[in-house]
Amino acid sequence: MNWGMKNRLSRIINPRTGRCVMLAVDHGYFQGPTTGLQNLGKMVNPLLPYADALMITRGALRSWIPPTADRPIVLRVSGGQSILKELSNEIITTSIEDAIRINASAITCSVYIGGEYEKQTIDNLARLVDQGEAYGIPVLAVTAVGKEMVRDARYLGLACRICVEVGAHMVKTYYCKDFPEVVEACGNIPVLIAGGKKIEEKAALEMACSATKDGASGVDMGRNIFQSDNPLGMIKAVKAIVHENATLAEALDIYRTPHEGSRILQ
Ligand code: 5RP
Repeated sequence: MNWGMKNRLSRIINPRTGRCVMLAVDHGYFQGPTTGLQNLGKMVNPLLPYADALMITRGALRSWIPPTADRPIVLRVSGGQSILKELSNEIITTSIEDAIRINASAITCSVYIGGEYEKQTIDNLARLVDQGEAYGIPVLAVTAVGKEMVRDARYLGLACRICVEVGAHMVKTYYCKDFPEVVEACGNIPVLIAGGKKIEEKAALEMACSATKDGASGVDMGRNIFQSDNPLGMIKAVKAIVHENATLAEALDIYRTPHEGSRILQ
């Protein structure tokens, strides 16, 4: 791995803990103004100091995040479909030159294993890895799961391993029963978990605790942070779990700590 690649990865995955809290706010690329992100800047900018990295599209970045923001950017460079159409029909929407101009610390696309356009999305990943290797920019592969797929270790292990074999430098997937098997399938490639649909805060924090115990290198979480009644409390709690091995009880205390802007009962 070249110096630039290592340097960018170490900006995302904290070398002290070997872990990462990535805040995912790229949902608009296929589902438009997602609840919580209608005014993306208002939601995201106060959370940024607690995130190790921000996963976002170039358009949202330019519209809502000031260029003075001191957070590594994981740039979503795939898209081309919407929730109204077949989701696996993704293409690459951003050139490597624009990713470099943006000073992206990593680039990312989704891979739909078992989806109608599976091969096209693996090809997207392969092209990004070639470009990333050429310019020292790591690639995060997101295992996107179609409605008809079962989110178990067998399916997620298959999807993650394919991404690793194609050359991804990080993988994002879902937490599941027997998660250590998924991590093992990825060798030394860091595995981050998505939060998925909004669930109760305690359950989301419990998932983060279990995932890190089971070998995840952290989270790439969106809705369970920005759709929480206390987004700031949630990201602080997740950060304590990921970087300080906080227990569920400790994380819940952090989440419940009142602060300006919190909508939880105080
Ligand atoms: C979509 C994505 C999203 O960024 C990701 O799934 C969002 O995270 P969360 O599920 O925690 O809202 O990659 O494919």
